[in-house]
Amino acid sequence: MINFKELASEYKTPLYIYDLDYMTKQYEELKAAFKGRKSIMAFAVKSNSNLSVIKHFSDLGSGADCVSIGEVRRAFLAGIPSYKIIFSGVGKSDDEIREAIEKDILYINVESEAELGRVELIAKELNTICRISIRVNPNIDPQTHPYISTGLHDNKFGVEIDTAKRMYIKANNSEHLDPVGIHFHIGSQLTELKPIYESAEIVADLVRSLEKIKIELKFFDIGGGLGVKYDNEVTINPYDYAQAVLSTLKGLDLTVICEPGRFLTANAGYFLTKVLYEKQNGSKRFVVVDGAMNDLLRPALYSAYHKIEAITDSKSDKTKADIVGPVCESGDFFAKDYPLPELAHNDLLVIHSAGAYGFGMGSNYNTRGRSAEVALKNGEARLIRKRETFDDLIALEKEFLV
Ligand code: LLP
Repeated sequence: MINFKELASEYKTPLYIYDLDYMTKQYEELKAAFKGRKSIMAFAVKSNSNLSVIKHFSDLGSGADCVSIGEVRRAFLAGIPSYKIIFSGVGKSDDEIREAIEKDILYINVESEAELGRVELIAKELNTICRISIRVNPNIDPQTHPYISTGLHDNKFGVEIDTAKRMYIKANNSEHLDPVGIHFHIGSQLTELKPIYESAEIVADLVRSLEKIKIELKFFDIGGGLGVKYDNEVTINPYDYAQAVLSTLKGLDLTVICEPGRFLTANAGYFLTKVLYEKQNGSKRFVVVDGAMNDLLRPALYSAYHKIEAITDSKSDKTKADIVGPVCESGDFFAKDYPLPELAHNDLLVIHSAGAYGFGMGSNYNTRGRSAEVALKNGEARLIRKRETFDDLIALEKEFLV
């Protein structure tokens, strides 16, 4: 049991809390599902990019899936070895590509023909060979929220099968490119196995057709996407997930790379916020708290559901309330019509499943400093990011004030 009251009094609110032991459990479960097969778990750093969290996965043997050179740098700082770092993303700049090549990461995951040209040119300038993988867009509907669907031709990610084939041939003929992997990631918060299986099948068939023309890959990168329970979703069992993917790889000797984010971090995280006021507008009840959409954007952006638990002495009946923050936007809410007892100033609300895409999607909107982050390990709490101060917020502007 986490003592939220104690944490709030020690570290103040709003506060992110991460249970590292839960992350370990999730990591081990997924890794075990691929037992008997060469595999690398490459933690999707975007889901929670705190250095201590990445370091925790590094200590467990994880690699890192990164989407900017900033994330690549974080992965290095946290001790992830270069040969377990992957760099994906549709819009890598020349500088990012150059640094990734110089850092000799496992591979750059290329998402367009134009990008392949840039990577080749930069590798040539550096007089080296760059390992690449190509992100294939299998045009499969992942059946998730449209904002986090990535495997349809309508989405900006990856390339079509025919384009991918052309790119592999080009890369194979290049003196500066070494095609070592193939990648797909069709979306996030997936709760259906079928789209994953169908995508893996399409991509594995492409691997086979490449083998026929003597292009032999080493890595089969299945992206991330495993859904978690926010409410009462029926999620995919990691073992079934692994079996489904592996069943498409018969006769192929490939190392499987998995890029889990949410599965490892979402339910390890809690966002702790304090009640400021109760107010009533007509028949509408509002609970105003000290956390806001700049801390946890998911409800505002995706109408995402997060379970909310009140820590209070109140014994009153529950009635429905909107839980809102101080930001000047009507979209600034954590939940709508959520049943809560009558709450008092300084009561606490724990927002569950906040470990993935929580702090990382935060901002300083309304000149609000971002909250502190605390890690729990073996029952002990440790600060892993200080609360931002007003001085932090203006540091890059102050000297330019005219
Ligand atoms: N690999 C790639 C190439 C990705 O684009 C992503 C996530 C992952 C791995 C990790 O996916 P996961 O295992 O976490 O589902 N902000 C949204 C989620 C965006 C996901 C973006 N890509 C949310 O809060 O739901």
